[in-house]
Amino acid sequence: MGKLLKIENLSKEGILSSVSFEMEEGEMLAVMGPSGSGKSTLLYQAAGMDAPSGGRMWLKETEITGLDGDGKAALRLHRMGFVFQQMNMLANLNILDNILLPAIQAERSRRRKTGGSRDVKECANRGMNANRSRGVRKRAPGKSAGELAQEARALMEKLGLSGLEERRITQVSGGQLQRACICRSMMNSPEILFADEPTGALNQSAAKEVMEELTKLNREGTAILMVTHDSKVAGCCERILYLLDGRICGELRLGKMTAGADNRNPGKTAAGVGTLYPGETEFWTEKQREKKVKAWLSQMGW
Ligand SMILES: Nc1ncnc2c1ncn2[C@@H]1O[C@H](COP(=O)(O)OP(=O)(O)O)[C@@H](O)[C@H]1O
Ligand SMILES: [Mg+2]
Repeated sequence: MGKLLKIENLSKEGILSSVSFEMEEGEMLAVMGPSGSGKSTLLYQAAGMDAPSGGRMWLKETEITGLDGDGKAALRLHRMGFVFQQMNMLANLNILDNILLPAIQAERSRRRKTGGSRDVKECANRGMNANRSRGVRKRAPGKSAGELAQEARALMEKLGLSGLEERRITQVSGGQLQRACICRSMMNSPEILFADEPTGALNQSAAKEVMEELTKLNREGTAILMVTHDSKVAGCCERILYLLDGRICGELRLGKMTAGADNRNPGKTAAGVGTLYPGETEFWTEKQREKKVKAWLSQMGW
């Protein structure tokens, strides 16, 4: 596995100072720390949403800090996914259309780049009305609105959301909405998914559902960088960084969770759902991982 994300001496006036860390491809990394310690700022910086006051960042070979605004927007659209607590789903669209939106934007941007003459609005409208407009016209190269809708439906099925396509965002539960957010973030097959307290607004069972989906996606290869306050959630990650006053001042390595954590596949349940890092000789249950996190947090002065 190669390096996916490299952050070098990142600073943001008064918020972050000289933050450096790297993430491997396919890694699941949590950032914890007191409120106001700069966790969200760190995520926004890494996602190129805000300019740092110092330092450099790379996503694989691409220097994020070397890109202009358009370059960063393209990077976010094509290579990154976002699951934020406030969710940012549009109230005037149904669940399926909300999920489709970034894929339609990506298709639009690809067409613009390849000089496709298809009217942008038409493409978006066709995506929004994919059921009705299937196969009427000749497609430009790339994915058709119908194909994108099919992918969105497949993702919804995978995340247990089939049947909710036409619902408004106010007509589904918090857990379902957050899982729809994950679907949306996965539409462009990102290399890395950023999640800012993805379970922060959810009750325990919804949080569990969301974490099951995130760990499943991670097992399938998507790297995840998340912020969380919840030891149970952090315990699902391979590694945790502790941020205090804008500096990284601790790291806990737990190793990847194994498939045993997935209770929707009871055939796969095992007593141990984690491996000791890096020796991989001792199995830890989810509860034990959570306890390790709690003990470490108290060492950190949490
Ligand atoms: N856009 C901003 N401009 C100025 N200060 C900000 C901005 N965003 C956050 N802050 C401040 O930066 C600090 C860290 O914020 P944040 O990254 O949101 O922390 P966390 O996510 O760890 O709670 C806080 O003191 C907050 O008030
Ligand atoms: Mg925050």
